[in-house]
Amino acid sequence: VSTAPLVALLARLGAREPLDLDAVAEGVAAALGAHAAAVLTSDAHTITAGGVWPGRAADHPGFRLPVGRGVTGLVAASGRPERMAADAPRDPAHRRLLGLRPGEAVARVVTPTRDRDGQVTGVLSVVRDVAQPFAAADLELAQALADLVGLRRHADELVRADRTQRSRRDLRIAQAISAEEAERRRLAYDLHDGVTTALASMSFHLSSAELTMAALADAPPGADPAALGQRFEQVRTQVRAAHDLVDLAYDQTRSAITGLHSLVLSDLGLVPALESLAEATPLPVDLVADPSEAFADLPDHVASALHRITQEALRNVAKHAHASHAVVSLRRVGDVVVLGCTDDGVGFDARATADRVGAGQAAEPGHYGLASIGERCALLGATLRIESLPGMGTTLMVEVPVSPA
Ligand SMILES: Nc1ncnc2c1ncn2[C@@H]1O[C@H](COP(=O)(O)OP(=O)(O)OP(=O)(O)O)[C@@H](O)[C@H]1O
Ligand SMILES: [Mg+2]
Repeated sequence: VSTAPLVALLARLGAREPLDLDAVAEGVAAALGAHAAAVLTSDAHTITAGGVWPGRAADHPGFRLPVGRGVTGLVAASGRPERMAADAPRDPAHRRLLGLRPGEAVARVVTPTRDRDGQVTGVLSVVRDVAQPFAAADLELAQALADLVGLRRHADELVRADRTQRSRRDLRIAQAISAEEAERRRLAYDLHDGVTTALASMSFHLSSAELTMAALADAPPGADPAALGQRFEQVRTQVRAAHDLVDLAYDQTRSAITGLHSLVLSDLGLVPALESLAEATPLPVDLVADPSEAFADLPDHVASALHRITQEALRNVAKHAHASHAVVSLRRVGDVVVLGCTDDGVGFDARATADRVGAGQAAEPGHYGLASIGERCALLGATLRIESLPGMGTTLMVEVPVSPA
């Protein structure tokens, strides 16, 4: 017996390249001196073709066998290998897969492939001429090969799952960074359009007050009192304008700082912080919340994320909804915290948006609010639902699992 085909097959199973299951079927057939082999894949109900020789699995796209029926189905269901001296599968697609002529019977071994946990993931099916029945040793070899194929496929699957997980995580991180970028941009706009502009025009008013005062100081003794009075009035107007601008800059600085960090949240906790967000919203917002104690065990990052989510949800209501009224609710149901924000405004096509947001993308380029909500939910392991229809208002619902206190 030549060991060359077996060595080639083992080398293939141990190689780092992606596993070509048609080539594995060919290698198994060669190692067992068979005239056909198939690597079949099964789930709880159905068996499909993973690799076939002669030919390719791609030549049998519709091939399906039920788990539990027929020899192959029974091996997939029970995980017990079978060796038959003469067998003639009835299913025509199965016969085509094994390259059987009409009425032809063959010697067969059918061995289960398993994953690392012992779960059956498919079968290895090998046939040869009835004139050369398989010996018990052949069955052992077939089972050993099936075991290797099963482990190798499991390893490939784990690698694949890990890669998907990684790329999903990378996407999340990129999204989190861009959401943070967007927030910084928002802050830059707030500071630029509000504070910087106010300061610049304040400086203008003060300069002109200064010039008028200099002119007053230089006025000759005995100058017209009415003209002097008018100058005084001008100075007062400029100073008053500067003063108003100080108030404006002060308010804008405060709101920019609130956008950055909530003092209420860190000092008083989540419920009062949501209350203050509700109050700061330019339309009536009711807060329906369980008592503060219900949220006393929430980790800081969860409270802070829920605060931000509410902030953005209310910002959206104020900006887009044209609502007359909104309700924010915060509930504790066992180990789940449920945050809701509902408005009676114009609504929008949330379904299209939700798909993008769920996939970690901005609702539209340049619109990061909902994406950052989606991001925060993903990082918390929370579920996010956005229900809205044009004309029907909008409901945003977040459920965060928290570990029991
Ligand atoms: N409560 C709401 N009512 C009506 N439309 C909404 C509501 N919330 C969101 N939208 C719609 O969804 C879009 C996406 O919202 P998102 O918060 O992602 O972006 P944005 O508010 O436009 O911009 P950004 O949040 O980055 O400042 C909005 O432009 C708006 O059309
Ligand atoms: Mg927004």
